[in-house]
Amino acid sequence: MRDRFEREINYLRISITDRCNLRCRYCMPEDGVEKMEHSSILNLEEMARLVNVAAQAGIHKVRLTGGEPLVRRNISQLIRYIAGLSEIDDIGITTNGILFGAVAEELQQAGLKRVNFSLDSLKSERFRYLTRCGDLEAVKKSIFKAIDLNMHPVKINTVIIGQFNDDEILDFADLAYNYPVHIRFIEFMPVGDLRFWKKERVVSSEEIKSRIESRYKLITARRIAGNGPAKYYQIENGQGSIGFISPMSNHFCGECNRIRLTADGRLRACLYDKTEVDLKTPLRNGASDAELLDLFRKCISKKPAHHEMSSGWGIENERKMYQIGG
Ligand code: 5AD
Ligand code: SF4
Repeated sequence: MRDRFEREINYLRISITDRCNLRCRYCMPEDGVEKMEHSSILNLEEMARLVNVAAQAGIHKVRLTGGEPLVRRNISQLIRYIAGLSEIDDIGITTNGILFGAVAEELQQAGLKRVNFSLDSLKSERFRYLTRCGDLEAVKKSIFKAIDLNMHPVKINTVIIGQFNDDEILDFADLAYNYPVHIRFIEFMPVGDLRFWKKERVVSSEEIKSRIESRYKLITARRIAGNGPAKYYQIENGQGSIGFISPMSNHFCGECNRIRLTADGRLRACLYDKTEVDLKTPLRNGASDAELLDLFRKCISKKPAHHEMSSGWGIENERKMYQIGG
């Protein structure tokens, strides 16, 4: 389905839970977060039904996010259901990797094709500091497991934060040189815990790229599977590749192909736009597929042309990243 700006909307991201087993400093405040009531979170059958309707609205890619999607039990059942829908040809998850290694095979058997890891430091102590409790070794094992299971392209999302982990840019580039992984550097955005975000901590994609080019030759690549808003490069003679996601320095909204479903059953046409369409209430009140399909159409038709992040999104938006799913 196309929106009013002629963008083809074919990708649904579902935040299946707002809970997380980590507490990344930029994402969640230390003193915990207000969690959604269990009863307000969609159960897996409800999510499955909505994906089925979304498929009728033209969605053919689905990504499960969180919070941390793997803290939700029975996720493989949901994956199996979604993978079984003929309209859906791509299904992935975005995980912090702590729990992935233990369930990787089960998820793959259920039909999971791809996995994106969020990883912002390759130094154990720094990783623990940033996540307030995470074990880097577990994440590394998970990443190698995904490679072993051929879940290509294995992607790693890395948020570069000035004066914090920008000294690791080349370490991440080395990783992409030595292993068949795709590292995506993400500019630090004013969302999440705003006490941690500062303008001076934003490192632009251009800056990151030029630092990488001090060691490696980057070759402009064609887009790889996954349809992200990233710019891709191959590393000369390297195994993997590198991408840049530049929400701060570059508006990529013109190519946006996605909508988002929150764990409590609201559809958002844009990560940065507060407008939501409530699907849960009609779903629980017995709405038909046709009625739900209309609500998907309504949401897509309201998709804004571009985000307004620079005008203070983070302050105004009541929802945090872990509630929307990144
Ligand atoms: N800026 C950039 N990326 C962020 N993410 C979470 N918060 C921010 C932020 N403030 C990323 C996570 C994960 C993805 C889902 O979103 O690190 O990779
Ligand atoms: Fe959890 Fe991801 Fe937020 Fe870290 S950034 S606390 S892993 S949801």
